[in-house]
Amino acid sequence: MSCCTHCQATDKQFGHAKARRDLRRYHKKGPDKTTKMLLSAIRERGLSSATLLDVGAGVGVLHHELLGQEIVAATHVEPSSAYLGEARAETTRRGNSDRVTFVQGDFVEVAPQVADADLVTLDRVICCYPDYRGLLQAAGSKARRLCALSYPRDRWTVRLAVTIINLFLRLRGSAFRVFVHPSAAVDAAMRDLGFQPCSRETTVVWQALLYERRTD
Ligand SMILES: C[S@@+](CC[C@H](N)C(=O)[O-])C[C@H]1O[C@@H](n2cnc3c(N)ncnc32)[C@H](O)[C@@H]1O
Repeated sequence: MSCCTHCQATDKQFGHAKARRDLRRYHKKGPDKTTKMLLSAIRERGLSSATLLDVGAGVGVLHHELLGQEIVAATHVEPSSAYLGEARAETTRRGNSDRVTFVQGDFVEVAPQVADADLVTLDRVICCYPDYRGLLQAAGSKARRLCALSYPRDRWTVRLAVTIINLFLRLRGSAFRVFVHPSAAVDAAMRDLGFQPCSRETTVVWQALLYERRTD
């Protein structure tokens, strides 16, 4: 799938109705499970005055939660214009517009124009992208200290569910697809990029991992 096709399919998949629904759910119930797992792993590292780059940031829950003492500035990268619109509006409501930079696009394409950060996050993002190695390489190279990601566990039950979801997407005429990338290969890619895992939490479907840059 070309970048253009991926961005168009992603923009359609994460449209206005979904973006509004996600923000409403966040207002009502707080962060989703994978975001909570990442937040708790990040908070355990005791960051202070750090910068965040959130790739595939959706409505911006990670920076809405972390901006303060831990994170002082964030970059929000997102191909979906609906997500970007809701995230911008929420950031303004919170009085944080001077601390968040918004960039629209496929991260692999826009990475050269994005600044490095102490912490890079990809919450449920690599499962939306076929070339997870390219995305991890682009994201990992921006992370000065920590890189946090959540993605589906590669178990047969999850693969089966994702096959059914992709069948529905195909029947609806959508070019968007969900991917269950092999955990061992994702971990190997992160290690090749110079990171070591420092925490892993799971649900039945998801895994949330925090990686720290090796200093040796
Ligand atoms: C399931 S949503 C998760 C949104 C948010 N991270 C969260 O957990 O609420 C997946 C997100 O990844 C974004 N995405 C997919 N491919 C991307 C890419 N190549 N670069 C940047 N973002 C991407 C989508 O637009 C979407 O916002």
